[in-house]
Amino acid sequence: MLWVKALHIISVICWFAALFYLPRLFVYHAMAEDETGRERFKIMERKLYRGIMTPSMIASVVFGLWLLHYFPGYLKAGWMHVKLAAVVLLLGYHFLCGHYLKLFRDDRNTGSHVYYRYFNEAPVLLLVLIVILVVVKPF
Ligand code: HEM
Repeated sequence: MLWVKALHIISVICWFAALFYLPRLFVYHAMAEDETGRERFKIMERKLYRGIMTPSMIASVVFGLWLLHYFPGYLKAGWMHVKLAAVVLLLGYHFLCGHYLKLFRDDRNTGSHVYYRYFNEAPVLLLVLIVILVVVKPF
C-alpha cells in the first residue's frame, strides 16, 4: 500500500508540474508575435500535454483508485467526497487545456495573455484544497 501511495504522490507531482506549466506557455504563446516563436510554442505545448500531462493524469487516477481499494471506508467520508469532486474539476481543467492546445495549434486562439494568467491560477486553488482534505481529513 505504501508503494502505491508513493507512486500516487509522484504521479500527482508530475501532473501538477504540467498543469502549472502548460497554461504558463499559453500566456507567452498568446503574447508571441513572430511565426517562429509561435511554432516553437506549439511543439512545446504538444510534447508537454501528450508526453507528461496526460500520462501522469492517468497514473494519478489509477494509483488513487488502487489506494481507495485498500481503504474502502474512505468512500463514506465527507472529505473524500469533496476530494473526488475536486478531482473531477481538475480533470475538466485538464481537458480544457487540451481544447486550448488545439485552438493554439490551429491558430484559432482568441484568449488574451491576461485571461490565461487567471486561468493559470485555478489548479493552485484545487491543489491547496485537495492536500488539506487528504492530510487534515477535516470532516
Ligand atoms: C481519482 C482520483 C484520486 C483518488 C481515487 C485518490 C485516492 C486517494 C487515497 C485513497 C489516498 C489514501 C489516503 C490516506 O492514506 O489517508 C490518497 C492519498 C493522497 N492523495 Fe489521492 N486520490 C486521487 C487523486 C489525487 C489528486 C489529484 C491529488 C493531488 C492534488 C491527490 C493527492 C493525494 C495525496 C497528497 C495523498 C497522500 C495523503 C497522505 O498520505 O496523508 N490525490 N489518495
